Amino acid sequence: EPEGEKVSRPPVVTIMGHVDHGKTTLLDYIRRAKVAAGEAGGITQHVGAYRVSSDRGDLTFLDTPGHEAFTAMRARGAQVTDVVVLVVAADDGVMPQTEEAVKHARAAGVPIVVAVNKIDREDSDPDRVKTELGALEVIPEEWGGDTQFIPCSALTGEGVEDLLSAIALQAELLELTAVQDCPATGVVVESSLDRGRGPVATVLIRNGVLRQGDNIISGSEYGRVRALLDERGERIEEAGPSTPAVVLGLSGLPEAGDEVLAVEDEKKARELADRRREKSRDKRLQAQKA
Ligand code: GTP
Ligand code: NA
Ligand code: MG
Repeated sequence: EPEGEKVSRPPVVTIMGHVDHGKTTLLDYIRRAKVAAGEAGGITQHVGAYRVSSDRGDLTFLDTPGHEAFTAMRARGAQVTDVVVLVVAADDGVMPQTEEAVKHARAAGVPIVVAVNKIDREDSDPDRVKTELGALEVIPEEWGGDTQFIPCSALTGEGVEDLLSAIALQAELLELTAVQDCPATGVVVESSLDRGRGPVATVLIRNGVLRQGDNIISGSEYGRVRALLDERGERIEEAGPSTPAVVLGLSGLPEAGDEVLAVEDEKKARELADRRREKSRDKRLQAQKA
């Protein structure tokens, strides 16, 4: 962590769980949005980053895919987060990617809040979820463990307020801080090439404040921030700690997980990026020789 005065920052909360257990629908309910309905095949294939303001303060949410193909995205999601919300459909119980999510959260040392979802369904069995997660040593508080299990329905909204309270409570215990008065640092959550706008990167700011016009470096790419947008595509002036921001202006596509760093001038940014590019090329050549 950089030097400087520490200020409190909002928690970063990553939603994880098995495919179709209701992660995106839950976030849609929390955000009053309709992302799940627009997804191809109803499957999340990327990491979405959202800022939600509530009476309990701001929360930053990352949605992750549950499909088995996206292990790397889930691992990265767990690494940049403060709290994992593990969504388990109460009609389906613990499934392979539920178990995988528990492993990622443990590996990252991140506390879990369990959302026992789909309790509106007649065939739901919340106690079975407790038993099955208990077997993985994720033990409910009411059974003497340290994990909050919150029954809810992403469809009807039942229990969602309780879930938000549970997340806020868990986050308060962590006393999260960041340094604000330093060059901005962040991590790339996802990146893609947009036809009109060029390279587009969603960046989660860790420290400092990123502003339009800043020179940044990320992976082997660099650039001047041409525009900063929120997840709705609205322009924002600046992005501080725990804020997700869509960044336009990079020279190419950084990879998800790459660090982002604001640097004094463009020349420095370019030189640093060039050096990194050479390094990764050398590595590739060596790997080819071996
Ligand atoms: P992936 O991102 O593909 O892993 O799926 P997901 O976990 O985001 O699940 P998604 O939100 O796409 O929901 C899957 C299906 O479950 C959809 O048809 C939702 O409408 C439904 N669903 C989600 N939550 C609930 C719930 O609380 N109750 C009921 N009955 N259905 C739900
Ligand atoms: Na889905
Ligand atoms: Mg989803």
